[in-house]
Amino acid sequence: MTPSRLDREQLIDIAREFGTPVYIYHAEKIKEQYAKLTSAFSNCTSRFFYACKALTNINIIRYMRSLGAGLDCVSINEVKLGLKAGFEPSNILFTPNCVDLAEIIAAKELGVHLNIDNISILEQFGNKFGGSYPVCIRLNPHIMAGGNYKISTGHVDSKFGISIHQIRHIERIVKTFKIHVNGLHMHTGSEIKDVNVFLQGLEVMFELVRHFDRLEFIDLGSGFKVPYQEGDTETDVEALGQKVCAAFSAFSKEYGKPLEVWFEPGKFLVSECGYLVVKANVIKQTTATVFVGVNSGFNHLIRPMFYDSFHRIENISNPGGAERIYTVVGNICETDTFAWDRKLNEVREGDLLVFYNAGAYGFEMSSNFNSRLKPAEVLVVEGEAHLIRKRDVFEDLLRGQVEVL
Ligand SMILES: Cc1ncc(COP(=O)(O)O)c(C=O)c1O
Repeated sequence: MTPSRLDREQLIDIAREFGTPVYIYHAEKIKEQYAKLTSAFSNCTSRFFYACKALTNINIIRYMRSLGAGLDCVSINEVKLGLKAGFEPSNILFTPNCVDLAEIIAAKELGVHLNIDNISILEQFGNKFGGSYPVCIRLNPHIMAGGNYKISTGHVDSKFGISIHQIRHIERIVKTFKIHVNGLHMHTGSEIKDVNVFLQGLEVMFELVRHFDRLEFIDLGSGFKVPYQEGDTETDVEALGQKVCAAFSAFSKEYGKPLEVWFEPGKFLVSECGYLVVKANVIKQTTATVFVGVNSGFNHLIRPMFYDSFHRIENISNPGGAERIYTVVGNICETDTFAWDRKLNEVREGDLLVFYNAGAYGFEMSSNFNSRLKPAEVLVVEGEAHLIRKRDVFEDLLRGQVEVL
């Protein structure tokens, strides 16, 4: 069996071949994570739509399709990428937020599942299309969950979903326009370890199901946590699967017909498959700190600065070196600290460092800030490394610019 982790030598070889900084993804790890989910929910009719906002390289999207996953998209362009990657519209779910009616209509014309998350658009959609095209309604269950406030989406102050307390208003619109509601959706946040949070959300959904008589599924969003630090654990999807499937089977009898359970995992599928390999440009000792300045920054990996996320870092060039304490920073003209006070094997200028858990929301959130180039992306499938995105070149910085002066 192909191991689900890339080792030091593989990472070094790829960095030598393709240069640094480089994002490296490991297909077999994605497969392993997908298998964990499908096996955990094998006792109920479940569907998993990969939340491709986490990582949209077309090869990753195609790989997801080859595994049997569906695709969750938050923009019309993600939908188009999914179709280009060969997904059937029936395997694409469109879960946007604060988009206009035109974008919803564009998705409808492409034939994908629609998730509507506000009263205004629901009313406009109903007025225009009545019950001719089914829609799923995204609700806000008012549950505070998630690893960080910035990735919590189901609480009362969040912009996402329609409040469960607006159910009467939803009913009024649905009834007036005879809207065909085929699903209910919720997503409380990312990095939820406690399975009870999902079950609490499910209870809320079950209460609301009674207001609709043509439902086919309940979409519980995502939020499955993966380990980031030593000793960290992931959401116990096995236990969650058993509990959720038992609850669905009991509830479906009550509802009078079987309901499917849908999920949209992003991080769970692609976080651990990803590695960002960078080079130590400079070791800079100041009065208080030893900095390692690397040839990257928040232009390539913004999560530590944006969400205070923790990424394990290793010096893969000097694994036997004495451990010393470093603060790892980027080369951006902003404070872009990846990690404070990390124990690393002695770092010398030119050494390669790897950031783990770099697959989800890594390259995807990268930018050309400071007119720096975006990294290359490499996908390793069955031991073979494939370049799946060329490193930016200088000309990319000017692409789209109109020189008028
Ligand atoms: C509606 C929705 N579904 C799914 C996801 C994916 O979440 P995660 O990457 O934690 O699995 C998100 C993340 O922002 C989301 O907002």
